[in-house]
Amino acid sequence: MKTVVLTGASMGIGRALAVAWAARGAKLVLSARSENALHEVAKDVVNAGGKAIVVPGDVTDEKYRLELIRRANEEAGGIDVLVNNAGRGFYAPALQIDVDRMREMFELNVFAPLRLVQLAAPALAESRGTVVMMSSVAGIVAAPRYAAYAASKFALEAISMSMRAELAERGVRVVVIRPGPVDTPFRSNATKAEGVPGYDKPDPRAQSAGAVAALTLRAVERGAPVVETSAFVRVASAASRLAPGPLRLVMRRMATKHPEG
Ligand SMILES: NC(=O)c1ccc[n+]([C@@H]2O[C@H](COP(=O)([O-])OP(=O)(O)OC[C@H]3O[C@@H](n4cnc5c(N)ncnc54)[C@H](OP(=O)(O)O)[C@@H]3O)[C@@H](O)[C@H]2O)c1
Repeated sequence: MKTVVLTGASMGIGRALAVAWAARGAKLVLSARSENALHEVAKDVVNAGGKAIVVPGDVTDEKYRLELIRRANEEAGGIDVLVNNAGRGFYAPALQIDVDRMREMFELNVFAPLRLVQLAAPALAESRGTVVMMSSVAGIVAAPRYAAYAASKFALEAISMSMRAELAERGVRVVVIRPGPVDTPFRSNATKAEGVPGYDKPDPRAQSAGAVAALTLRAVERGAPVVETSAFVRVASAASRLAPGPLRLVMRRMATKHPEG
């Protein structure tokens, strides 16, 4: 039975990942701050055929990170997959970014995943396991009003790229998942600059969390280094490499348009 340590498991993509892994008979170590929601997810996990250990807490707190990895090792007997999925959006024009709030977001989106891999590395080397980093299309293209969030995902991509080369000799794989818009509470949970309109309506291009979860499991099974989960992401990714000039024009147009609230 594979053990999967999953952050951000209380809702959204994390919840879908928990159920998808449970259906493969995995043991899930569920992490997020909302204890009640995690217990609900744990019920779904058991109903889907898996096992669940609930470890509520804040991944930006080092004491909690130590507890999470310790309990995974002691109660689940090791770690096969560490999924760094917890994260938060941040919508603000660059000139209005509150750097203190941006620093807090980096604690969650960048430093917590890095620390968790550092702490889980011995167990992952033992199992010749896999790290999953939940990046974003914003990890390769920084659209207007996404400067802070994209900076965090670019940083996560850089850490993942470097770490992938370093961990290969220990038999540990690093899988980066790049979703575009996904239908989850992510937009309403995001930090927004004062007076920045919108981002609360569902995105019509949004993919389901279940679809992202299925692609993530397949990537882990196949050891794929990077998975771009939708045509939207693949087009944006290709444009950033092959047509940076036209992409700059599109983004300039986006900068003058404001999303509806
Ligand atoms: N949805 C999208 O459009 C989209 C697109 C591309 C990439 N992504 C990425 O996908 C990942 C999951 O996003 P989602 O859409 O599922 O978002 P979501 O629905 O807002 O879920 C975020 C999860 O992170 C947890 N979390 C937030 N702050 C935390 C903290 N300090 N400590 C522990 N857990 C914390 C939340 O649980 P608690 O509140 O209970 O702690 C929740 O389980 C994120 O990394 C996001 O950047 C999302």
